Amino acid sequence: MRMRWIWINISISTVMAAAALALVLIALVVGKALAIADPPSRASTLDPKQATALESLNIPTSKDPCAEPSFHNATVCDSGKPFRHLIGLRLANCSSYTSLSFTALKSLWSLRSLSLLNCPVSPIRLPAELAASLTSFTCVNSFRRVSGVWLSQMQNLSDLTVSWVEIKASGPFVILAHMSKLRSLTISNANLSGSLPGHLHSNLTHLDFSNNRLKGSIPPSVTMLDSLQVLNLSSNSLAGPIPSSIADLISLQTLSLASNSFSGPIPDSLSALPALLHLDLSSNHLNGTIPNFISHMTSLKYLNLANNNLHGVLPFNHSFINRLQLFNVAGNSNLCFNHSLLPSNSKLGISPCDKYGMPLTPPSKDSSSDHSSDDDYDDTDDTSPHHNDHHHGPNKFVLGVAIALSSIVFLIVFLILCSKCCR
Ligand SMILES: *[C@@H]1O[C@H](CO)[C@@H](O)[C@H](O)[C@H]1NC(C)=O
Ligand SMILES: *[C@@H]1O[C@H](CO)[C@@H](O)[C@H](O)[C@H]1NC(C)=O
Ligand SMILES: *[C@@H]1O[C@H](CO)[C@@H](O)[C@H](O)[C@H]1NC(C)=O
Ligand SMILES: *[C@@H]1O[C@H](CO)[C@@H](O)[C@H](O)[C@H]1NC(C)=O
Ligand SMILES: *[C@@H]1O[C@H](CO)[C@@H](O)[C@H](O)[C@H]1NC(C)=O
Ligand SMILES: *[C@@H]1O[C@H](CO)[C@@H](O)[C@H](O)[C@H]1NC(C)=O
Ligand SMILES: *[C@@H]1O[C@H](CO)[C@@H](O)[C@H](O)[C@H]1NC(C)=O
Ligand SMILES: *[C@@H]1O[C@H](CO)[C@@H](O)[C@H](O)[C@H]1NC(C)=O
Ligand SMILES: *[C@@H]1O[C@H](CO)[C@@H](O)[C@H](O)[C@H]1NC(C)=O
Repeated sequence: MRMRWIWINISISTVMAAAALALVLIALVVGKALAIADPPSRASTLDPKQATALESLNIPTSKDPCAEPSFHNATVCDSGKPFRHLIGLRLANCSSYTSLSFTALKSLWSLRSLSLLNCPVSPIRLPAELAASLTSFTCVNSFRRVSGVWLSQMQNLSDLTVSWVEIKASGPFVILAHMSKLRSLTISNANLSGSLPGHLHSNLTHLDFSNNRLKGSIPPSVTMLDSLQVLNLSSNSLAGPIPSSIADLISLQTLSLASNSFSGPIPDSLSALPALLHLDLSSNHLNGTIPNFISHMTSLKYLNLANNNLHGVLPFNHSFINRLQLFNVAGNSNLCFNHSLLPSNSKLGISPCDKYGMPLTPPSKDSSSDHSSDDDYDDTDDTSPHHNDHHHGPNKFVLGVAIALSSIVFLIVFLILCSKCCR
């Protein structure tokens, strides 16, 4: 009887010791897990759901993301209470492991501005609340490819920049049809096909469709944009004459129509734009003479008329050319300069004129306008239904280890008890 009492005593103390050991182990492991997970979200004034979304995008939240300046200027917050919310997010140079999830984007509903620079993430379904909230969207060398329909969801944008991203759309109108608040639009290096849209919103100040595969001519919708300061249509397959209504762009400072197939003369109406700083009509099929009024455009800093079919006497003197940061008229085989106005050692790439205003020595024609295939781009617009909703991190792993360890300890205790009981 006494022996049995002692035995029970021993087994109870064994069990208690083992249980205590197990508890200590669990406390250690769980404590470590919490130490990893906890301080960032506690220290932040940011909405905890948004902090979690930032962590899933590899943006550290150990320092308050709402403090200024933020980590690499990646985040901007509002001053909401009790929690602040993100209104600006910039993802730059993401690692190839970064992934955007629908869950993360959904919790970022408050963003006004979203930029991705060099982020090789996949486009995913855009939550409707975020699409409506965004007023600025920038995507440079990021998504491998986006569809026009995907972009068209962001109807509240005033600023849209997509560059070095392939856009699948039958034309710019697919993207722009419902964006009535746009002020600045850049879609460049996007392999975008189709023609310039027949309707554009009249408050645009910046329009850049450079380096795409756009065809057709310049429609009246473009020349009606009377707030436009920058028009860059360079490196497309646009053709036809430069419309004289281009002079209706009364705010225009920069005009680049370079590397297209525009033909006909430089329109005289351009003289109505004396504030022009930058004029690039190079690498087209423009013919006729260089109009004299250009020499009276006193704001001009950049003039490129190279690689066209312009002819006649260059209407510029030395002081005009010296005032410019860039001047280029090379590659116009029938153009020549008057050597009583310009020194004959001028490196203009054109010959001096004879007394009839013809080039003395015929220079070699150097037309480098080069357009790739004009084949139409057969495509359909589709949204990208890829989701990527799973979350992962160190915490689940550590908790798993804790649970496994404690189960083992309990199993050992149970076995010891069993073996003693059944003796
Ligand atoms: C963050 O933005 C501020 C002001 O715009 C700028 O002065 C600073 O250089 C930027 N910092 C980084 C790391 O980009
Ligand atoms: C991204 O990388 C480029 C080139 O390596 C660098 O110039 C730029 O500053 C980087 N931007 C950020 C925000 O790290
Ligand atoms: C659209 O943007 C304006 C600010 O430009 C904002 O006041 C408005 O709430 C936004 N609309 C939606 C649906 O978020
Ligand atoms: C253009 O801007 C003016 C004021 O800047 C504004 O009254 C007008 O509604 C805007 N138009 C469009 C189409 O957004
Ligand atoms: C027009 O676009 C081209 C190609 O994107 C770019 O190289 C050029 O600098 C732009 N011109 C102006 C005046 O912005
Ligand atoms: C300019 O080219 C057009 C065709 O593109 C032609 O009809 C016109 O006669 C040419 N003008 C001159 C002055 O060569
Ligand atoms: C150069 O031409 C401009 C007009 O374009 C004229 O005002 C100026 O006097 C000329 N300068 C010289 C040195 O001939
Ligand atoms: C060159 O300029 C001189 C002086 O302005 C002028 O007399 C002459 O006619 C010009 N020559 C040609 C070919 O335009
Ligand atoms: C651009 O589109 C054309 C036609 O679909 C395709 O052949 C070409 O590979 C595309 N270019 C790039 C750089 O994606």
